Amino acid sequence: MSTTFTLDTATSRAHPVPEPVRRLTVPGIAKRKGGEPVVMLTAYTARMAQLLDKHCDMLLVGDSLGQVIYGLDTTVKVTLDMMIAHGAAVVRGSYRSVVVVDMPFGSYEASPQQAFESAARVMKETGAAAVKLEGGTAMAETISFLSRRGIPVVAHVGLTPQAVNALGGYGARGRSEAEAATILADAVAVAEAGAFALVVEGVVEPLARQITESVRCPTIGIGASAACDGQVLVVDDMLGMFERVPRFVERFDDLAVRIDAAAGSYAAAVRERRFPTEKQLYR
Ligand code: KIV
Repeated sequence: MSTTFTLDTATSRAHPVPEPVRRLTVPGIAKRKGGEPVVMLTAYTARMAQLLDKHCDMLLVGDSLGQVIYGLDTTVKVTLDMMIAHGAAVVRGSYRSVVVVDMPFGSYEASPQQAFESAARVMKETGAAAVKLEGGTAMAETISFLSRRGIPVVAHVGLTPQAVNALGGYGARGRSEAEAATILADAVAVAEAGAFALVVEGVVEPLARQITESVRCPTIGIGASAACDGQVLVVDDMLGMFERVPRFVERFDDLAVRIDAAAGSYAAAVRERRFPTEKQLYR
């Protein structure tokens, strides 16, 4: 099988184009309720999107990029322009997955109209298939407004990191009966409003199960047990890029350790004049 290439005229680089692949669709994901688990990871760059694409059903350009890429302390400082730049890169790097871009704090909460303007920019300037926004009952009207105007929405309930200042931290939610009832009502409200999928973050297992049984759209858990219809993780956590990770993360590699070793070997080779060698010389 031969590989075909497209020439990027901006960089004069040839990019390999994989076999023609049809991108998965929003309705296709919505139909996965109770079926084959939905696989989602975050991606923030074109290269990472290329690597993850064939393994995932959805790529999330999460506002977690504030911490992961930009070293911010919370996601509150992330801007719409940051999300759009990274969203466009991930769309360019992927062929198969449904790309979802997070709406950052302050870009959608004021009104459905504000949300539409921000989300329309995201859709036009990135080519993503959907947006994600945090919040429950209070966001139901906005989700309905966007969905009825052609903007597919993934909702996000439970632990909602943009509300860290109001919540007082990142602890698991839904431990008390009252809190669990509120989160369940949030989940039902956003699903009824038209969200085609629902991220459920940091909630106790019985609540995740109850939410999954109560809504028509697939639930995608992060720290919310295997009771959900799919799972999402921050890719850098999953790859072991950070020393400290939340309890719910499984590290599938130890990249930080391997990068440390590789950088150490490079530094030693430069200092000892073992690099570059004959092999790297232009002749
Ligand atoms: O921003 C993000 O990466 C997210 C996931 C953790 C669900 O919202």
